[in-house]
Amino acid sequence: MADRPKAFVTGFPIRHSRSPLIHGHWLKKYGLQGSYEAIEVSPGDFPRFVQGLKQTGYSGGNVTIPHKEMAFALCGRRDAAADEIGAVNTLWFEAGELWGGNTDAHGFAANLDAFSPGWEERKSALVLGAGGASRAVIYALKRRGFGRIHVVNRTVARAQELADRFGNCVTSHGWRGLPDLLQDVGLIVNTTSLGMEGKDELTIDLSTARQDALVTDIVYVPLETPLLKAAREHGLKTIDGLGMLLHQAAPGFERWFGVRPEVTPELRTLVLADMAPGGQVR
Ligand code: ATR
Repeated sequence: MADRPKAFVTGFPIRHSRSPLIHGHWLKKYGLQGSYEAIEVSPGDFPRFVQGLKQTGYSGGNVTIPHKEMAFALCGRRDAAADEIGAVNTLWFEAGELWGGNTDAHGFAANLDAFSPGWEERKSALVLGAGGASRAVIYALKRRGFGRIHVVNRTVARAQELADRFGNCVTSHGWRGLPDLLQDVGLIVNTTSLGMEGKDELTIDLSTARQDALVTDIVYVPLETPLLKAAREHGLKTIDGLGMLLHQAAPGFERWFGVRPEVTPELRTLVLADMAPGGQVR
């Protein structure tokens, strides 16, 4: 390992990323010499950026929107999660070779482990959305033994692509199928961008949902999305998406800096303060 390992997060745009705050907190907490910075790279410049990583002395870094698919294509070696999800969010070097991994599925599952141990016993899930985030969630659900995963999407063909990709346990549906599907599932996950600050709300009628259903959202700004609010008001258990962001960061940190960091309430409070109006320092 380098004396002072350097890592980064890259995306386009990148200034709103909270990854520097998270990794900076861990570097300080564990007393490590090293750095983690945000680097904005346009899609056109991304291949050259990745190809030049070794020369610039980086140990690796995180990749976010819109580069995850391109990073997948540019890595010589990939872990199993990246291969199945078709996207890379973490880069590192091993024996001189550039590896790409995907820690989003780990982040999703670890967040639920933390707030609802045993959640995987639910076995049936409804996944709203069929983009990149949906693939990571489906991969996590499959790994945790879910036998029925219903994917609901505006564009049904995209949901069908996921059913083809992930096999028999995944079925595809349009939004009209929701009332019936809700009766069947113990877990409801929003992976669409709906409900995010500045986007349209996600309004779904939860009246047919099972009373024991657990509801979670990968959107974490706002922390309580309209879906989570509706679920809470309906008496359902909810888990917000912030923990997914925090947990997906841990495996990369360990690869670059050699310490497996802990996701603590203290870290959560720090990121929440940064999200509060006027809290952002960037
Ligand atoms: P990501 O990779 O972050 O998941 P994405 O690939 O753009 O992002 O996927 C966004 C998801 O949000 C998709 O499922 C998209 O539905 P379509 O596949 O039909 O586009 C969903 N989405 C975005 N805006 C939506 C809207 N206004 N109504 C319904 N679904 C929407």
